[in-house]
Amino acid sequence: MASLAPGGVLGELAAVVLFCLAVMYLWFRHRYSYWSSRGVEGPKPVFPFGNIRDVLTRKTQFFQPYTDNYFRYKHLPYVGMYTFNRPVLSINDLDVAKLVLIKDFEYFQAHGIFSGGTGDPLAGHLFNMHGKEWKDLRAKMSPTFTSGKLKTLYPLVNNIADDAVKYIDLLYSNGEPINFSELYAKYTMEIIGSVGFGIECNGFKNPNSEFYRRGHEYFEPKSMYWTFVRALAFIAPDFYKKLGIKRISNEILNFFFDLVRQTVDYRQNNDYKRNDFMQTLIELKNGQVVDEKGKVNYVHGFPFSMTDVTANAMLYMFAGYETSATTGNFAVYELALNPHIQQKARQEINRVLAKYNGEYTFEAQNEMEYINMILDETMRKYPPMRALFRRCTREYKVPNTDLTIEKGTMVFLPVQAYQMDPEIFPEPEKFDPERFSKENKAKLHPCQWMPFGEGPRMCLGLRQGYIQSKMALVKILPKYELRINEKSPVPMKIKASSYACAADGDVWINLKEIRHQAEAADFSCSKAIFVRVGPAVVEADLAQRTRRVPLRPNARAPPKRGHGPNV
Ligand code: HEM
Ligand SMILES: *[C@@H]1O[C@H](CO)[C@@H](O)[C@H](O)[C@H]1NC(C)=O
Repeated sequence: MASLAPGGVLGELAAVVLFCLAVMYLWFRHRYSYWSSRGVEGPKPVFPFGNIRDVLTRKTQFFQPYTDNYFRYKHLPYVGMYTFNRPVLSINDLDVAKLVLIKDFEYFQAHGIFSGGTGDPLAGHLFNMHGKEWKDLRAKMSPTFTSGKLKTLYPLVNNIADDAVKYIDLLYSNGEPINFSELYAKYTMEIIGSVGFGIECNGFKNPNSEFYRRGHEYFEPKSMYWTFVRALAFIAPDFYKKLGIKRISNEILNFFFDLVRQTVDYRQNNDYKRNDFMQTLIELKNGQVVDEKGKVNYVHGFPFSMTDVTANAMLYMFAGYETSATTGNFAVYELALNPHIQQKARQEINRVLAKYNGEYTFEAQNEMEYINMILDETMRKYPPMRALFRRCTREYKVPNTDLTIEKGTMVFLPVQAYQMDPEIFPEPEKFDPERFSKENKAKLHPCQWMPFGEGPRMCLGLRQGYIQSKMALVKILPKYELRINEKSPVPMKIKASSYACAADGDVWINLKEIRHQAEAADFSCSKAIFVRVGPAVVEADLAQRTRRVPLRPNARAPPKRGHGPNV
């Protein structure tokens, strides 16, 4: 009996746990000599976190350790680090970065993060794939992102930008400063709904739209549990896969699966087509790739299931949401802080629009080069993805060094550190779009500015990213002058809890309506003037704004606002 007493069992259990911990400790300690034994310097790892303890305790943003160590070890070409027990090589030297991303890309074909499966079937999309699977899908999706195809998507984005301006008009007439963090979140989510999923979600009128809510939940874990699970899926994808637990909740999964299924069924049953990303995915499912001229090419031996359709619609959300939303948000923030740049932007917009009879056409937008320079400079200071990452897929000897990168090793490229290094971009804190004038941009090292990544895995949605971030600016600036509201933190810190480079605090902007050309140049008056309209009108509009509009696939209703099947 005595040996079965709780003390005895607990004692044995404690011994087993202690033993396991000791084995683990020794194993980790052995692993922590991985880099030093290869002659690679780096910060001292801490059991069991390696070099990412502050990330796990949410003290610093996910990519901060790589940024910090870039500056600490700048004299070296690369730094040896660890996530838990896994070695990670962080690249400092731009020429080595070029080898990894471009020249010897074939050795580094994977992003190296969790790539779907039972834990999260929605994660089985292009960004997360690797090898042949990735190459095939990338080739088949590329036609969606050609300039010609984007031109056909353009009216969808245009409509949403119009809604955004209406929403701003309303807040303005109501005398409220604008929370641009919210505006851009809504604006971008609306675009993803329309272009990616083929639905209209009415986020401006209905702040509780289910699409908007679920989309957010997909990004922002609601509790410590989900935060931890997702961090694990990112940091230790193989281990995570073995655990067989869900990365996101069934509710979110079902919501997106049902939504996509309904849309696909509707389109197929009614022979309805819409110029959007969803259509491309449906065509892939049907074994077709359709180019911008409508020419159908049949593909064989490329099974693309309903799950693939849903996962790759999710890709649009995953890759296109926070990236464009934060870029637009930071651009507005910097423009409000730099009135002379804002004025120059406005002049360009007005000049080009005059040439196009005031119409925001695709071509007109393409001609607004200064706005692109503003976005480029915004993404230099605040690259939505602060670091790029690759997993070594084939053993690689780094030329002119003794270092061999073993298969499976993660390689990080701390882009924001490069872009904020005074030796690479002098006076990095200064917001100066001239750095990206045509001639200056041509002189850049291919890896010194990489907000969209670089090489064969570079962002596929680059042009769409510019269109999305640009459109709202182009519509707002001729109408309103932007001034920073005292509620916006200056300078802006980076939010620790977000994977993207997001603002830690909201961007609040006071607007001043521009009536005459001359008034726009007057920055002497710093107090915003609000024009109030009759309360009845505003109330009616607000009621409309908060009314619950049921979510429905766009296709069910007759296409609204003129974007019929063949726009
Ligand atoms: C300002 C907006 C955007 C920024 C800054 C951005 C940035 C990035 C970055 C840094 C990567 C990783 C590249 C690499 O590893 O070298 C990426 C990949 C990707 N992005 Fe974007 N992105 C933006 C908008 C979009 C949009 C709107 C889409 C539309 C669907 C999109 C689609 C993709 C895809 C499909 C990939 C994966 C490519 C692959 O793995 O082959 N992105 N993006
Ligand atoms: C501003 O917008 C952001 C993003 O949607 C939101 O998280 C925040 O709560 C908003 N701020 C206020 C005070 O409403």
